Amino acid sequence: MIICVCRRISDREIARHAHAGMGFDDIQLELGVATQCGRCEGSARDLVSQCSATCPSANISLAADLALGPSWNTQAA
Ligand code: FES
Repeated sequence: MIICVCRRISDREIARHAHAGMGFDDIQLELGVATQCGRCEGSARDLVSQCSATCPSANISLAADLALGPSWNTQAA
């Protein structure tokens, strides 16, 4: 089903990104959902929340990656 008519983005596409651990803001940046008329934003956010709730391990691994910090900066004095 198409969630974002303006950008022709489906629920499957949003769900796939959410299951990969991306939050709404990241998905919006990646796909462009809710960047034109904005009518799809509520539905898209709900879908991301549902997917995040059903697949918490993806978010945990993302949080763990963020906690490690940037590896390029470990040698800086
Ligand atoms: S329906 Fe998504 S921006 Fe218009």
